[in-house]
Amino acid sequence: MKGIILAGGAGTRLFPASLPISKILLTIYNKPMIYYPLSTFLRAGIKDILIITNEADYENFRKLLGDGSQIGINIKYRIQYVQKGIADAFIIGEDFIGKDSVALILGDNIFYGKDFGMIMKNAINKNSGATVFGYEVPDPERFGVVEFDENKKVLSLEEKPQSPKSNYAVTGLYFYDNDVCSYAQTLKPSGRGELEITDLNKIYLEKGKLNVEILDKSFKWLDTGTHESMLEASNYVNIVEKQEISIGCIEELAYKEGFITSNDLLKYLEKYGDKNEYYNNIKKHIISKG
Ligand code: DAU
Repeated sequence: MKGIILAGGAGTRLFPASLPISKILLTIYNKPMIYYPLSTFLRAGIKDILIITNEADYENFRKLLGDGSQIGINIKYRIQYVQKGIADAFIIGEDFIGKDSVALILGDNIFYGKDFGMIMKNAINKNSGATVFGYEVPDPERFGVVEFDENKKVLSLEEKPQSPKSNYAVTGLYFYDNDVCSYAQTLKPSGRGELEITDLNKIYLEKGKLNVEILDKSFKWLDTGTHESMLEASNYVNIVEKQEISIGCIEELAYKEGFITSNDLLKYLEKYGDKNEYYNNIKKHIISKG
């Protein structure tokens, strides 16, 4: 399974903070925002990753994450020159995907939950169709919304409806079989001129191949698209990390998933000396796990 992180966009909603740099590189508590979606992929065991950036921030993303080999993963980059919509990721990423299945995560989506790695691995093992996740929110009109019947069978999907038919938002993490590339080619721009991810999911729904998993409130999902939600996310990560549990720590997850050995990781961390709190915490966690 390949993974795509969509990290383009102009970020105008967060100006002036995101004027000089992509919002996906802004900090959520103690690390850049992109660490969180990248860590979600690592928890799913996905290590072949394409990052789609805007033109202006391409070099900044490369500077931060390189080719991923420092943590035992493979990262490639592509530029989205025009913001054509989320589903454009499967047109830009077609060569990268090749004949594989693919997961997409939006660069501003943060997930945290104890068994989430296993839930994602189950979605990957389905091999055919699509899996998306529903999460109950107070403001569904801001999102893609999924409507269910009393047996939790999916009835409809709508993008940012004025009168939502449920309180379940579709989160920004999607697992697809290889058909997604050909389906994306058939999409037409929506009223707001974008290739909508919801329209792509509707194709799977119409074919009876859409699986919607509900994440209950033992999971935390945050779309950090506003100042308020960035602050909420920072506070959340800060509180959880006080209990010695890391969120979004790609180095530690790469080690836990077996992408890098403890020796190689400790060697890589040596270059940051012993005055850096973030890296010192990783060393502490790795050494305590032996
Ligand atoms: O967060 C979940 C929601 O994400 C879903 O419920 C919606 O169905 C989905 O459309 C999306 O809604 P947003 O309003 O959050 O999408 P937004 O336009 O903010 O784009 C999400 C991220 O993707 C953002 O960080 C910028 C990036 N992006 C977006 C577009 C349209 C790109 O890199 N390129 C694009 O063309």
